[in-house]
Amino acid sequence: MCAYFTRLVYMMNEHFLFTLLLPSMLLAQSPPTITLPTPDTTGGMPIMKAFALRASERVFDTTALPIQKLSNLLWAANGINRPGERKRTAPSALNAQDIDIYVFLSNGVYLYDANQHVLIGVVEGDHRQLFSRSPGSDPIPPVLCLLVSDISRFRFGVDSARRVWAAMDAGIVSQNISLYCASAGLATRPRAMMNHQKVRELLHLKDTHIPMLNLPISQKLGREQPK
Ligand SMILES: Cc1cc2nc3c(=O)[nH]c(=O)nc-3n(C[C@H](O)[C@H](O)[C@H](O)COP(=O)(O)O)c2cc1C
Repeated sequence: MCAYFTRLVYMMNEHFLFTLLLPSMLLAQSPPTITLPTPDTTGGMPIMKAFALRASERVFDTTALPIQKLSNLLWAANGINRPGERKRTAPSALNAQDIDIYVFLSNGVYLYDANQHVLIGVVEGDHRQLFSRSPGSDPIPPVLCLLVSDISRFRFGVDSARRVWAAMDAGIVSQNISLYCASAGLATRPRAMMNHQKVRELLHLKDTHIPMLNLPISQKLGREQPK
């Protein structure tokens, strides 16, 4: 009877401990939110010079990007530039604002929340290799942006039309990234090729979420940095 009672108390304690730990175990799967510094929306090089420098790079540096550059990059990509109307640096068909930017960093994957200008933790861990052509041998860039369209945000239209709008919207965000990179001395390359199934599994994407482009981003190798 005594042994039974001891065992019962032990099981209750175990259950109690598990109940206490459960929320932190679940939370441990997504990294904490990163508050980005206010983007610098006044600097940069003349736009015509950025056009002149824009190119898709093949070689990437591995050193971390300053958080200010990441903040500027995300704002330029698809940030809020007219807060009163909640409108973006990138236009979108039907103002659906369908393009989400997932940011892959060395410690986790984050979702860019343009309204709050923060990075919301999605998955812990380094998953940048998912986009590597030869995992283990390719130098891994510090940042990788994945553009995902949620075609359910288009208020109307058949799926085939929505997919075309999604591709256009992603292309515009991608070009914003490329031009910001050109102006800030960063290297990037828009890439449609990726393992869609693995990306979907990792990010628990819904059927209406379509990964469109991924862009590795790093400092430019062996080039003079703009002042
Ligand atoms: C929609 C789109 C998809 C692309 N997909 C890939 C890709 O999967 N892999 C890759 O290495 N480059 C990809 N690129 C980059 C092109 O190869 C590159 O833009 C082209 O060679 C022209 O070079 P430039 O961007 O330096 O002018 C893609 C570009 C675009 C616009």
